[in-house]
This record gives sequence, structure tokens and C-alpha cells, in this order.
Amino acid sequence: MTAALDTRAVQRAALGQHDLKVRHMKFDLSDDIPEYWYDNDPFKTLLLSAMSGGFPEGERFFIDSVRHFRDRLTDPALKEAVRAFIGQEGHHSREHGLLNDFLVRRGLPIDVIDRNVGAFMRFMKKRFSPERQLAHTVAVEHFTAILAEGFLLPGSELEKMDPRMAKLWAWHAVEEAEHKAVAFDVYKQTVDDEWLRLSEMAMVTVLFLGFTAVDLVRLLQTRGLASSPRLWLKAVNEMWGVPGHFRKLIPSYLAFYRRDFHPDQIDASAALARVKARYLGDQA
Ligand SMILES: [Fe+2]
Ligand SMILES: [Fe+2]
Repeated sequence: MTAALDTRAVQRAALGQHDLKVRHMKFDLSDDIPEYWYDNDPFKTLLLSAMSGGFPEGERFFIDSVRHFRDRLTDPALKEAVRAFIGQEGHHSREHGLLNDFLVRRGLPIDVIDRNVGAFMRFMKKRFSPERQLAHTVAVEHFTAILAEGFLLPGSELEKMDPRMAKLWAWHAVEEAEHKAVAFDVYKQTVDDEWLRLSEMAMVTVLFLGFTAVDLVRLLQTRGLASSPRLWLKAVNEMWGVPGHFRKLIPSYLAFYRRDFHPDQIDASAALARVKARYLGDQA
């Protein structure tokens, strides 16, 4: 992803303007969806499945952490964006709950991931200040935004999925890109503590990568693939080799640590418009 500075986007952010649409979707999760519905690849399919396992509880946490600060906002446009953010994340939580039920019926222990994430979210709500909870959401939203804008939306990854799954992941990636600055702008207008923002990102990086790796191995074990050298070599090369899907995300990830960072500085509008038109029937 090119971390191009988009001046129109920065102006829009300065004005507190966000372009979000809450879509009511219905997805076809039929039994004839292939077992490895992403590129016929167990690693990629189970990686997205592991991430989906954390979404229902995670997205409810994001909603609560942003909602806590809603009454302190004075900008009507940002208040409206928060309303749409809550709408989008609420739908994501519900639809990924249905996807997770589908995956559990296929023998994947997604329910274990869901329970673990739920327990961790309850721990954070009890032990972390509302300010740190919001910083946590801002950091995870940066992860979801760079995965959407740098991995799923550009290129042809969605084309490699079963079309029914592609529609679901396209929808989620589009809306993550649309609302990527909402929690950030709420944080800037209420908490605005740089140490908290950066220290929480450091913690989220360890947690996000750690949890995802453990959950992925758990899913690979159920398919007897966790110790397959061929699978790991191919996966590590594809994700971290040259050019490497995840390796390409590093500059966007590091941009978060800049003092003048704003999510809208990363411009993925062309890929966003293309995927909206192709999978969601939206006009650019
Ligand atoms: Fe989401
Ligand atoms: Fe989000």
C-alpha cells in the first residue's frame, strides 16, 4: 500500500467529515461452500477464520469504548459518524457471529476463540480506564484498516475466494476502510494523550499477533496441518517474503507512531471504490 498523503482526505478529517454507509446485508452461507474457501488454501482460510472468531466480542467492545465518549463530542458531523460507526460494527458483530456458527458446524473450534476473546474484553473493561479502552479500539482499528486497505481491497485477494465468502469479506473490509478515522477522531477530540495512544498500540501489536498465531495453530491442529513444514514454508513466504502481503503493510503500520498521524493520510480510495462497485453494488 502506498501511504500517499491525500490532502482532500486530511481536509475532510479536519472538518470532522466522514463518509460512512450502514449496509444491511444478508449472506449466503450454503453447505456447498468449499472447505478451503480462500484460494483453496488451508492457511489463508483458517487465518481469516481465526480472525472472525474474535470479531463478535471485539466489535462490541469497540462500540462500547466509543459510545462512552459520545456525549463529550461537540462536532455534529463526528456525532453522526459515531452513530454510523456503531451501526456498522453492530452489523459486523452479528454477521460474523453467523459466519462463526457456520464454521463451528464444520468442526472448527471458533467458539473457543469467541469465549477467550470475550473473557479478555471483560478483563479490559474491568481493569482499564475508559481512556485506555478507547486507545485500544483506536489501535485495533488501525490494524483492521491496514488489513482492509493494504491486503483485501487492492489486488486480487477477494477474487481468490468463493464468491459468497468474498462478498462478506469485501463488505467488512469496505466498512472498516470507511470508518477507519472515527474512533481516532473521537480519541483526538476527547482523550488526546500521545503516550497512551502509542503505548496501547505497542501492546495491541503483541496481543493481536500473539492471539492470531495461537488461534491459527489451534485451527490448523483440528485439520492435522499444524506441523506441516510445506504449509508453513509456503505461508511464511507468501506473507512475509518478497513482496509479501504482510510485509507490505509495515510502512502503514509504522505511520501510526508519527505524532502528526491521521488515518486519512493513507489513501486507498481507488481500491475502495472498485470493491464497492464490484461486490456491494455501490456507486463510487
Ligand atoms: Fe468491523
Ligand atoms: Fe472497525
